[in-house]
Amino acid sequence: MSESELPLAGRVAYVTGAARGQGRSHCVRLARAGADVVALDACAPVTEHNGYAASTPEDLAETVALVEGEGRKILAREVDVRDAEAQRRLVAEALEQFGRLDIVVANAGVLNWGRLWEIPATQWQDTLDVNLTGVFHTIQAVVPPMIEAGNGGSIITVSSAAGVKAVPGCAHYCASKFGLVGLTNSLAVELGEFGIRVNSIHPYGTDTPMGNDLSMYQLLQDHPTYIHSFSPGALPTDSLIAPNEISDIVVWLAGDASSLVTAAQIPADKGYLKI
Ligand SMILES: NC(=O)c1ccc[n+]([C@@H]2O[C@H](COP(=O)([O-])OP(=O)(O)OC[C@H]3O[C@@H](n4cnc5c(N)ncnc54)[C@H](O)[C@@H]3O)[C@@H](O)[C@H]2O)c1
Repeated sequence: MSESELPLAGRVAYVTGAARGQGRSHCVRLARAGADVVALDACAPVTEHNGYAASTPEDLAETVALVEGEGRKILAREVDVRDAEAQRRLVAEALEQFGRLDIVVANAGVLNWGRLWEIPATQWQDTLDVNLTGVFHTIQAVVPPMIEAGNGGSIITVSSAAGVKAVPGCAHYCASKFGLVGLTNSLAVELGEFGIRVNSIHPYGTDTPMGNDLSMYQLLQDHPTYIHSFSPGALPTDSLIAPNEISDIVVWLAGDASSLVTAAQIPADKGYLKI
């Protein structure tokens, strides 16, 4: 396939939480499909409540190298999604460099554990600030120039299986990820007239530093009845989902092959949500 025939040729994607895990995979796969990439990540601890290590500037540099290895351009910055002004500045820089924005993957997120009435208020607030308000800041930064450009586009929010089905031990996380569904679907209605589609993805356990967070096991040990809420899927679930498999859905939602799909919740769960 020649470069101009690639499904996302000439388009530009803005990806949050891009230093590692699913975000990095999405950057690489969007680039492989022909898009240039704007990548941002905090590259530092974002909450004291996480049981897994934070990403680093070296992680983001690796994403840059991988995207460049695909032959595409990438603008990468250390930005916390809670910083609305920094996201606006990055969008301005991206428009100067690339001239347009077509695809947005609001992927940055945190997950930590505890019963709702026992967690400190900061744990609740950090989770809502990153997972929900961070996406709000992304939307406020990207949507006006997308409307102005008049090219339509695709916005993809990364929710979770825990944004559809109740999960014990992370009600704060569920609240943020259920909240994303409301944001996604209302925004889809508002942006329909501009040809901009908005959909959410709902992964189950995925093989990233977040998905391998061992602190969850302490919670299950302390509250063994919770295990029933983490049922297997319909497909074999002997391993975590590969980030690349989530990227298959992102690339599909980003491109014209999904042109009829908006205000939709796309499961990436091996059937877990039906069990
Ligand atoms: N891993 C799973 O099992 C799983 C399952 C369902 C949903 N998700 C969701 O998928 C998304 C990606 O998670 P992942 O599995 O790749 O985890 P991850 O921890 O490997 O990657 C998340 C990235 O987001 C970045 N990030 C976090 N807070 C940020 C902030 N405030 N500003 C900028 N960047 C920030 C982190 O630095 C990290 O690089 C998250 O929204 C997560 O909630 C993950």
